[in-house]
Amino acid sequence: MAKFQNLFCIAIALLARNLTVNGLNTVEVTDLRAQIRQMIIDEPIEEGRQANDQVMIAGLVRLSFHDCVGPQCDGCINHDNAENAGLQVYIDRAEILYNSLQVAISRADFWALAGVEAVTFAAEKANSPHPDIQFRYGRLSCQTSPITTDLHTFPSSLGDTDHVLQFFQNQFNFDAKETTAILGAHTLGNAHRQNSGFVHPWVTRKHQLDNAFYSELQDATNGWNQRSIRQGGVTRWFWESTTNPQLLMLNTDMCLIKDMSSADAEGMVNCDYNSCPTPPGVTDAWVTSFAIDNALWITEFAAAFEKMIESGWTGQLSLPGK
Ligand code: HEM
Repeated sequence: MAKFQNLFCIAIALLARNLTVNGLNTVEVTDLRAQIRQMIIDEPIEEGRQANDQVMIAGLVRLSFHDCVGPQCDGCINHDNAENAGLQVYIDRAEILYNSLQVAISRADFWALAGVEAVTFAAEKANSPHPDIQFRYGRLSCQTSPITTDLHTFPSSLGDTDHVLQFFQNQFNFDAKETTAILGAHTLGNAHRQNSGFVHPWVTRKHQLDNAFYSELQDATNGWNQRSIRQGGVTRWFWESTTNPQLLMLNTDMCLIKDMSSADAEGMVNCDYNSCPTPPGVTDAWVTSFAIDNALWITEFAAAFEKMIESGWTGQLSLPGK
């Protein structure tokens, strides 16, 4: 009998980790955010990295996005999906904190909150305005959290404007402004040869959140050229600055200001940076607006990020204390 009682308790405990059991109040959320920030700061300094280079910021922001692709943000990642390559290391680090928490918060809520805190921290580091992202709780994690075998479709990094707009409209009900705003997340972090095959960061100050992504995109003095990489027998093209330091743009970034619709199956287009026409729609106008107005971008980015982390849960989440 005692054995069955124990099993029952374990089952309840496991189940409880899938949801935020007793709700969250504002004090608990403030405390959780402080612990997440400390985890980011305590990230071990690898050789060649500056003390102020917190790589976890980018990792947690990318994790928020990847967790929300699919029907809803559910605290589950499929590591057999090549699109998720590189996320495991950040999940493992976040697990150490998650497993030590005293409050019963679902992993889906925890990852969403970690993304919000990473964005906030990165904006502070850049002296950008505060990104006003409301955090609401109540997401249910999938039963097998933090892993899943569910396969979700991600946008191809070789795609053009239509491809990107379609994806974000279908996935998050984003319009062109929201889509252009969310892609500024690529201000943070790096592409890694061992993950996507691509190389370089998008901007120089890659641990700080400001509108640099848009100004680099528009800056012709970067000498943007197409370059190919070969990984697993497959060739894919991206854009590389030929000046120092080297930066990258994916076709899906470049397509915000240039028409990438001539791209072949490997992503090579038949025009260069100066000769590629502007793309259909209004994304290039939004890039210009965001490049000249950091405060405007932060406002639009925060709104899009909040919408993204509520994907699939609209109307079912609560503000802390409610
Ligand atoms: C068209 C849509 C997108 C495509 C094709 C795309 C593709 C990529 C690729 C190929 C990488 C490099 C991964 C690696 O090699 O480690 C990357 C990194 C990253 N992405 Fe995206 N992404 C998209 C949208 C987003 C969105 C919406 C967000 C967040 C809201 C985001 C946040 C990031 C961050 C922060 C990194 C850097 C990660 C790190 O430094 O470890 N991306 N993305």
